[in-house]
Amino acid sequence: MTNASPARKIILDCDPGHDDAIAILLAAGSPAIDLLAITTVAGNHSLDNVTRNAQAVCQIAGIDVPIAQGADRPLVTPQIVSEDIHGNSGMDGPVLPEVTGQLDARHAVDLIIDTVMAHEPGTVTLVPTGPLTNIALAMRKAPEIVDRVRQVVLMGGSYTRGNVTPAAEYNIYVDPEAAEVVFRGAWEVVMVGLDLTHQALATDALQQRVRQAGEEAGERGREVAQFMLDIWEFFGKTYREVFDFEAPPVHDACCVAMLIDPDLVRTERAHVSVELHGEWTKGQTVVNFETKPGMRHSTGVAERMSDLRTLVATELNWERFAALVVESVRQLGDGNTGAGHDPEPRS
Ligand code: RIB
Ligand code: CA
Repeated sequence: MTNASPARKIILDCDPGHDDAIAILLAAGSPAIDLLAITTVAGNHSLDNVTRNAQAVCQIAGIDVPIAQGADRPLVTPQIVSEDIHGNSGMDGPVLPEVTGQLDARHAVDLIIDTVMAHEPGTVTLVPTGPLTNIALAMRKAPEIVDRVRQVVLMGGSYTRGNVTPAAEYNIYVDPEAAEVVFRGAWEVVMVGLDLTHQALATDALQQRVRQAGEEAGERGREVAQFMLDIWEFFGKTYREVFDFEAPPVHDACCVAMLIDPDLVRTERAHVSVELHGEWTKGQTVVNFETKPGMRHSTGVAERMSDLRTLVATELNWERFAALVVESVRQLGDGNTGAGHDPEPRS
């Protein structure tokens, strides 16, 4: 971010979740981001668990922004959780403090709508890093937000392989109907899928740099660094056991990182549809890249796949990503957090 460009105003809609937690810290720990609000959605675990986890992350890092809980289940499909990856609490590993903060009294959907409508058109970016249930509900309750939102930068999908089935990535698989509503919206969506996030590995080298930054950043910095390391220890163990990964991918933080430093991620324009009916492919993001059109037969689908409204993330500059994660420890250690200024609720 140059001095000239104002901080990106964002609402982080999440399901903490180990990687969601890093996304929260990265957003709050960067002067390039104005974290207006955090909303939670059932995904990695129950709504109560992911909400408590979001509050705990903010408490540990001294982040003071409105937090509201949203949908406790998907629009249509039965709720599932991801205990094999995130544990019984949804964020096993770190010892979490007793949560003392108060939630915003509004439903997440209302907090999203109020916050978007209270800021100038084209200034608020939605950053969903869990299932898209809250976002789809907000679009239906207040369609006027679609034209007003600057961008939707979501973690989800894949144009190669899934991580829940061979075809589907978790956030999309949990609520495919909500995802299709979001991708069909008349706004610009940036799809940060597994093809990108599997490049964002919290390697031993990155963990050592975080440890070092924590040592140099005072008491709060040490706490934030230790929390990150405890997150990666548990997440790294499950990713080794389940996916044979050498290091845990920090999926959700990639959305925030690319808003801090747009050159950190390469994107390609595409049309994205979500498969809703395939016995083997439900939840698949079907990506038709502008440069590599996959449509050879005009079966009527070609026309529908011609509106290339989505940007799909393909390549990550890992070094720049790692540097942002390390810098967030220093910033949070110095007490610099992205406090939001939530508007009065709409009457
Ligand atoms: O597939 C990875 C995504 O699913 C991440 O957002 C992770 O937190 C889980 O929600
Ligand atoms: Ca998530």
